[in-house]
Amino acid sequence: MEIIDKLAELGSRVEPALEKYLLKDTDAEFREAVLYQIKTGGKRLRPALTLAASLAVGGDVDSAIPAAAAVELAHNYSLIFDDIIDHSELRRGKPTLWKKYGITTAILVAVHYRESIAQALNDTRDPAAFHEVMARTLKSLVEGERLDVLFEQAGRMDEPYVKEKRRSDVKLSDYMDMVYKKTGALIETACVFGAMSAGADSRAISMLGGYGRNLGLAFQIGDDIIDVFGHEEVTGKRVGKDVEEHKLGNVVVLLALEELEQDERSEFLSILRKSSIGTSELKRAIELITCTKAREQAEMLRNRYAYEAVKSIEELPGTEGKALLKALAEFIATREF
Ligand code: IPE
Ligand code: IPE
Ligand code: MG
Ligand code: MG
Ligand code: MG
Repeated sequence: MEIIDKLAELGSRVEPALEKYLLKDTDAEFREAVLYQIKTGGKRLRPALTLAASLAVGGDVDSAIPAAAAVELAHNYSLIFDDIIDHSELRRGKPTLWKKYGITTAILVAVHYRESIAQALNDTRDPAAFHEVMARTLKSLVEGERLDVLFEQAGRMDEPYVKEKRRSDVKLSDYMDMVYKKTGALIETACVFGAMSAGADSRAISMLGGYGRNLGLAFQIGDDIIDVFGHEEVTGKRVGKDVEEHKLGNVVVLLALEELEQDERSEFLSILRKSSIGTSELKRAIELITCTKAREQAEMLRNRYAYEAVKSIEELPGTEGKALLKALAEFIATREF
């Protein structure tokens, strides 16, 4: 079976739970807006990781469903506010939640998601332990988003906090730190939750955590590559958005800047620092990136982390769950959406 079909199959196991927690204690009139975000689809990668991780340590699918649902709700919660922050109007080929329903409703739906996550975690085998890990993970995600914004080179001129704290110099190590926080931590937690749902020992939990952490880094590097070189019909997101949003926190941008000679480096930076980046500047920025080896280097970096992920679970016995985790790492090293 293709990994993409397997993802869909595992995803379909958590679908009813997503709806159940989202619709709990929800006014009938609010339901449509609440369900919109999950109904736009998505790969359901994170809950698939939770279920596969549970299987990989001898657990079953059913007992991991509440934790898997919580993780996918957390992901969608982060997308709702990430799309507001990034001024993104398109996701999964459809209007983003704020674009469709307005900022006020999007903020309210996001808070509703946060509480649905809490209600899902109440159905896990050890709610206090799961709540603690989730709280830590979401605080990490918030910190990652904060850094991502501070790595932007212009924009938000009406935001004194961002203007004051903005960083003009971002190194690869700063990028990796930011990416672990905004994306790696939740993917790590997806895997850890699978092991916790199975009642695994601390050694197995830590192996799966290592797998998730590395996979999460590979995943965001892949997302950055797709942002610059992807195709909107395939990704469902607008191409070149990170450059338009003045972001230094995209690995392809960072690697290109590192390689460009003085003049072209200054030209690229001055584009990122323009208050508004139009089509011709975006085109020029992509041209400058294409002159470098940034794409190949980013792909190598992504593949290295995907490889490290698989290495982290080397010692687990060969099971269907482990095979799935390996196939998911392979997917992440090659994905185009
Ligand atoms: C997008 O995640 C946000 C990132 C962390 C890069 P996905 O690519 O998993 O989004 P969906 O759920 O499949 O749409
Ligand atoms: C995603 O980063 C991190 C989140 C916490 C959602 P991006 O801003 O790159 O995600 P996309 O590209 O909008 O999906
Ligand atoms: Mg975004
Ligand atoms: Mg973002
Ligand atoms: Mg992105």
